[in-house]
Amino acid sequence: MLLPLEPACLTLDADGTPFSQTYGDVYHSAAGGQAQARHVFLAGNELPERWQGRARFVILETGFGLGLNCLATWLAWRNDLRRCAELHFVSLEKHPFRVDDLALAQQAWPEFHEIADELRRHWPPLRAGTHRLALEGGRLILTLVFGDAVETLPELDMAVDAFYLDGFSPARNPGLWSPELCRSLARLAAPGATLATWSVAGKVRRALSGAGFEVAKRPGFAGKRQMLAGRYRPAGFSGTP
Ligand SMILES: C[S@@+](CC[C@H](N)C(=O)[O-])C[C@H]1O[C@@H](n2cnc3c(N)ncnc32)[C@H](O)[C@@H]1O
Repeated sequence: MLLPLEPACLTLDADGTPFSQTYGDVYHSAAGGQAQARHVFLAGNELPERWQGRARFVILETGFGLGLNCLATWLAWRNDLRRCAELHFVSLEKHPFRVDDLALAQQAWPEFHEIADELRRHWPPLRAGTHRLALEGGRLILTLVFGDAVETLPELDMAVDAFYLDGFSPARNPGLWSPELCRSLARLAAPGATLATWSVAGKVRRALSGAGFEVAKRPGFAGKRQMLAGRYRPAGFSGTP
C-alpha cells in the first residue's frame, strides 16, 4: 500500500521566487527559472542534440519541485522536429506539491500554459511510490517517484541517458548530494550518460567523481559564475562516449 507523504507548502520569498520554509532555499534561480532550466539542465546535458534521432531517451531528475525543468524539457522536445520517438522523464520527489499549488506557481510561466495544464490533469494522488503518467498520447512518459530519493533510487531499474541534479543547496539538503546517492545514480547510468547541475560545491564534485562521473565546470547561469557538467566514465573505461 502506498503511504501518504508530507506535501510541500508553497511560499514566495521577497523577490516572488518560490521558496521552501523546510529547506530555507528557493526552488529556482531568482534570475529566471525557465532560462535556468535551459542553460543548466538542457544545454548542460547537450540537449536537445543528444536525443535527436533516438528511439528512446531517458532523463532522471533529483527533485521534481514545481515541474519547471520537466516543462522546459517537454516544450523543447515538443518543438524539436528531430526529437526522439519516446521521451522518458523520471523525477524523484520527497515533498510533492498539491495540484492547486502547482497551478498557482505555474501561472508564472505562460509559455508552458498548455503542457502545464496537461501535467496537472494527470497529477497523481500524493502517495509514496511510483506514478507513471502517459503524456502527449503516450510519447512522453513522466514517472514520478514520490518518497526519499535515498530510499527510492536503489529500487529503480533503468538506463538513464541524462541526469538533472536539482536538489536544494548541498548545505541545506545534503542527503540529495551524498556519495551514497551519487553511487545510486551511477548504477543507473547508460553508456555515455551525462549530468548537469548548478552546484559546483567541492563535496558534490568529489561525490560524483568517486561514483565514476568525470565532471567539469562550465559558465553558470545569470549571477552564478559556474555550473557543473559531467559524463559517466567509470575507472577502466577507455572508449568514447
Ligand atoms: C530546487 S527544488 C527542485 C526544483 C525542480 N527541479 C523544478 O524544476 O521545479 C529541490 C527539490 O528536491 C526535493 N527533495 C529534497 N530532498 C529530497 C530527497 N531526499 N528525496 C527526494 N526529493 C527531495 C525537494 O522537496 C524539492 O522539491
